[in-house]
Amino acid sequence: MLQKLEMDKIVSLCKRRGFIYPSSEIYGGISSCWDYGPIGIELKRNIKDAWWRTMVQERDDVLGIDTSILMSPEIWKSSGHISNFTDPMVECKSCHSRWRSSELKEDKCPKCNGELTDPKMFNLMFRTFMGPVEEQANTIYLRPETAQGIFVNFANVISTSRKKLPLGIAQIGKSFRNEITPGNFIFRTREFEQMEMEYFVKQGTDEQWFDYWFKERYKWYINLGIKPENLRLRQHGKDELAHYAKACSDIEYLFPMGWSELEGIANRGNYDLTQHSEHSGKDLSYYDRESDTHYLPFVIEPSAGVDRSLLAFLLDAYDEEIVKGESRVVLHLHPSLAPIKVTVLPLSKKENLAVLAKEIHKQLCRSFTTHYDDSQSIGRRYRRQDEIGTPFCVTIDFQSLEDNQVTIRERDTLAQIRVPIKNLDLILHAKLKGEIFSTSEL
Ligand code: GAP
Repeated sequence: MLQKLEMDKIVSLCKRRGFIYPSSEIYGGISSCWDYGPIGIELKRNIKDAWWRTMVQERDDVLGIDTSILMSPEIWKSSGHISNFTDPMVECKSCHSRWRSSELKEDKCPKCNGELTDPKMFNLMFRTFMGPVEEQANTIYLRPETAQGIFVNFANVISTSRKKLPLGIAQIGKSFRNEITPGNFIFRTREFEQMEMEYFVKQGTDEQWFDYWFKERYKWYINLGIKPENLRLRQHGKDELAHYAKACSDIEYLFPMGWSELEGIANRGNYDLTQHSEHSGKDLSYYDRESDTHYLPFVIEPSAGVDRSLLAFLLDAYDEEIVKGESRVVLHLHPSLAPIKVTVLPLSKKENLAVLAKEIHKQLCRSFTTHYDDSQSIGRRYRRQDEIGTPFCVTIDFQSLEDNQVTIRERDTLAQIRVPIKNLDLILHAKLKGEIFSTSEL
């Protein structure tokens, strides 16, 4: 087990195995933008699916939506993002590097020790123009959070779903921030994906729901395999609260650069609905039939980053082990997150073996993300699968042609069991769910 894993190892594994590549690489790259490769996109989809399953599918008090990235600029005036979504920025007078002044420990440039300018407030929203004329009146913004798309659709969702409060509205989507100091691989980037849920409740019940959602979100990471010793809670001080927040707690992860925010859980009060009611002139209050009253609900918001969670899952799963005198790199990813669930490995490329292996691959593809690999030695092929976290390899050997059995090799225990081909699908389903079979059941 590595005590303090350097980020470089993960960056290099990601490039080598097709998880993540630097964006625009053939043109020399573009700072802090990343592309997900064939293995990375599977992991990313699995994280988003796991979130959606827990936060929407398995609940009857949360509904999902998908709103546009470009929205009326009035939204950002009302939400306070145009005037308040800023970071204090300083510039080095010698080397002209720019820094978030809140991050600096000293009054000197961390790069060249030069003198710094006074802090200037810098708005983090990306601006562009709607339509062919580039003029002030046509300025619009790339959304810096998905949350506002939810607030401005609150009344639509309530009236079309006929649901009562408490009710959550969830969304997964891209957000953009012109960060002053992006970095640490995919930890802080200018384009990223968020998984956000706004949970609308009656004022007075908000603190209890805040505690509830904090615990639920913490459990989500633990259930997906994050080690408890790598997670902790941090409450925001009054001076660091976002402009909309009444209270906020972060779930922090022990990243290689130290404890840092993985997900924020905020009590946004009724700030957003009040602002949008006032500025749009539309009544966004909720009619509570039981008490025959109208009110603007309070909102509890668990807000997670897809890319940041992906980085935490990778770091937490990474291990270097010695097996029979040889070292192996392995990702002990939770089976539901593993990009590839099963890889089919014929022991030889000989035609009769290949025909059977391809048939098995075709059959398994219908149920699982399945790969097929017939290149190089079996040992090397296992190592490749360990490095991308594939929980099961199915090996087809010459004996398989005789007895219609194949070998399942398990990533974590390295156990190998022989099973009938006809039961393979069933056994792998059960194994992926963590069910244990006795040999007689196979
Ligand atoms: N709607 C509330 C909100 O956006 P936030 O704490 O600014 O709150 C929520 O962001 C989450 O989004 C963070 O915990 C992080 O996981 C992710 N996130 C924020 N900025 C990011 C960035 N520049 N790069 C990657 N992920 C980011």
